[in-house]
Amino acid sequence: MTSKQKLAARDRFVKALMKRMTLQEKLGQLNLLSLGFDVTGPVLSEGVEDKIKAGLVGGVFNSITPVAVRKLQDLAINHTRLKIPLLIGYDVIHGHRTAFPINLGLACSWDMGLIERAARAAAAEATADGINWLFSPMVDIARDPRWGRVMEGSGECPYLGSAIARATVHGYQGDDVSKPENAIACVKHFALYGAAEAGRDYNTVDMSRERMMNEYMPPYKAAFEAGARSVMTSFNEINGMPASGNKWLLTDLLRKQWGFDPLVVTDYTAINEMIGHGMGTEADVAALALNAGTDMDMVGELYTRHGEALVKSKRVSIAQINAACKRILDTKYELGLFADPYRGVTEERAKAEIMSADKLQLAKEAALKSLVLLKNAGPVLPLAADKKVAFIGPLVKDQRNLIGAWSGACDPKKAISLWAALEAKFGTGKFAYAKGCNLVDDPKMIARLNPHDGQLTVDEKSPAELIADAVATANDSDVVVAVLGEPFGMTGEAACRSDIGLLPNQLELLKSLKATGKPVVLVLMNGRPLTLAWEAANIDAILEAWFAGHMSGPAIAEVLFGDANPCGRLAMSFPHNVGQIPIYYNHKNTGRLFDPARDGDKFVSRYLDVPNTPLFPFGHGLTYTTFEYGDVSLSKTSLKSGGSLRASVTVKNTGTRAGTEVVQMYTRDLVGTLTRPVKELKGFRRIELQPGEEITVTFELSSKDLKYYVPGRGFRAEPGMFKVFIGGNSEEVKEASFELMARG
Ligand code: NOJ
Repeated sequence: MTSKQKLAARDRFVKALMKRMTLQEKLGQLNLLSLGFDVTGPVLSEGVEDKIKAGLVGGVFNSITPVAVRKLQDLAINHTRLKIPLLIGYDVIHGHRTAFPINLGLACSWDMGLIERAARAAAAEATADGINWLFSPMVDIARDPRWGRVMEGSGECPYLGSAIARATVHGYQGDDVSKPENAIACVKHFALYGAAEAGRDYNTVDMSRERMMNEYMPPYKAAFEAGARSVMTSFNEINGMPASGNKWLLTDLLRKQWGFDPLVVTDYTAINEMIGHGMGTEADVAALALNAGTDMDMVGELYTRHGEALVKSKRVSIAQINAACKRILDTKYELGLFADPYRGVTEERAKAEIMSADKLQLAKEAALKSLVLLKNAGPVLPLAADKKVAFIGPLVKDQRNLIGAWSGACDPKKAISLWAALEAKFGTGKFAYAKGCNLVDDPKMIARLNPHDGQLTVDEKSPAELIADAVATANDSDVVVAVLGEPFGMTGEAACRSDIGLLPNQLELLKSLKATGKPVVLVLMNGRPLTLAWEAANIDAILEAWFAGHMSGPAIAEVLFGDANPCGRLAMSFPHNVGQIPIYYNHKNTGRLFDPARDGDKFVSRYLDVPNTPLFPFGHGLTYTTFEYGDVSLSKTSLKSGGSLRASVTVKNTGTRAGTEVVQMYTRDLVGTLTRPVKELKGFRRIELQPGEEITVTFELSSKDLKYYVPGRGFRAEPGMFKVFIGGNSEEVKEASFELMARG
């Protein structure tokens, strides 16, 4: 069948089915409930099984075993009038059963092939568990590391974020979502969730059209272009209207202007939450959401409660309900659920897929590629195995934190700690260990995190005793590796921080270790850029390990001892301090530029107490070798509309080890109808170079790549001068210029 014929067959099937449906049954399809072991929102769905039998449920999430899913599908197809199978959703965020690095870490790999393979592995595990709908990728651009959810996304760059969105959607959906190993993606959170004011979750977003189209919307659009079959609304308001009730967003922009027609589901009780936003009663917000084009109500049950009355009173048209119902049934049809509601789910398949050797191997590759070496003075890394190394810190032997937040289906006991990896590699008794401090000391914070699986314990030794032990251990060694960071519960949803430094007790330990005079390596496990001003000034080497998943330990051990050369590059800027936030590489200029060479200037745009630039910029990451860049050469210096040019640079490995460089190309539009960012990523390439090897990297740049959005005029490239920058991070670059001769 051609794809056109397939669509026609789907439409015939769904039309015939909908003819047989009552209004309440249609509203039932619009109802998504949570049932199962995982709690991902503030209220629980009740009476789910009875509601399924009554034809009042279109999908269920948080049930994730073949047995549980079979039972639910059985209820839907054998105990209801119309026998309509269920969508089975779940938050598969960074792997399903096999934990991959948190998404912000994975983004630091800049390896789209890897990201697609990781998504494919996650889909294989999830579908084996009976899940057919993955609430991912999360593509919200984020410039505020106070926001706990930066760990779920790909950082601050619309270009990198778009590439990752495409790779993930392809990985999940494959070439055909009806295949049992594929599942539909759900792009989230539409839209602009990452711009919540003050980095506080669920908070207000107020943004110009220009900024949203150029800087925040591209990754969502890229995901739709890649075929993402569904989308989740965000909790935030956008310029006064919450996303779930936002007709401009869901109908005018998404469906009419962009021309995509995915299933639109709300986030958890987001329709009900519009009452809190001040949008009226239950009936009012249900009408608002339906009329905006929101198809499915996650957990709120307002459509099933108020839908009939809203149609009767003509506040919502039956056409609106039909359109929503059709989108949901279309999706089920495309997934092949009407042909086989179980999609080949068996316990044997689950056993074969879940945490299989190839997935663990892939998770290790992903962990290795996500580690970012921020600093390496000396160089103190890699460590020589014949040195006396002391491993100190509450995360050395930890397993739970390694798999990070959003890992509900992952078994933390299967995570390989750094200590276990060291013992596996070198045998027991080779290195010294001290805990040094509790992961968290503050009883209030512990009380806040532990009811949500925080698993924080306080040592029977006092903080002073723990530090004394650690200092003694450090004194007896040649080099200290401190493994510190955030508890995973301080990252993820509803886990924002106003202070994003190391917790005070951990910093105290680190300062005590520094005071021993031994070289100190800091390995960080955390879910967001941290403020590391003291650490960067005083600690010899810093390895950002994020929460790198089940295979964290082996990956970190290999990098520390030089079996692997670190190769991650930051996908999000690290600020000096919280006062610099929001800080991002693709910022605009002011009219009062600060020139660091003229420090005495008064009326310039600057902080008096901290530089304007971040501590570690976007794209930054060191390796155990060094690279030298030649000059940027352009195939032409003037570009016609529709034309393209090649920008090349020669990169040489000037060190003594093979290594990976991520060559990054940025552009700048020097004069525009509107002001333009100082840099915009437009291309990147991961290359591996042997010592002494030289490679010429060539990027193609077309006038289309220079387009940007001007309200009222749409996307276009404007004639004038442009700069091209190429380098190993967003700050250290070589540049060249060209002119775009006509509008592109
Ligand atoms: C709320 C979160 O915002 C969203 O990302 C998630 O998919 C849903 N809960 C379902 O768990």
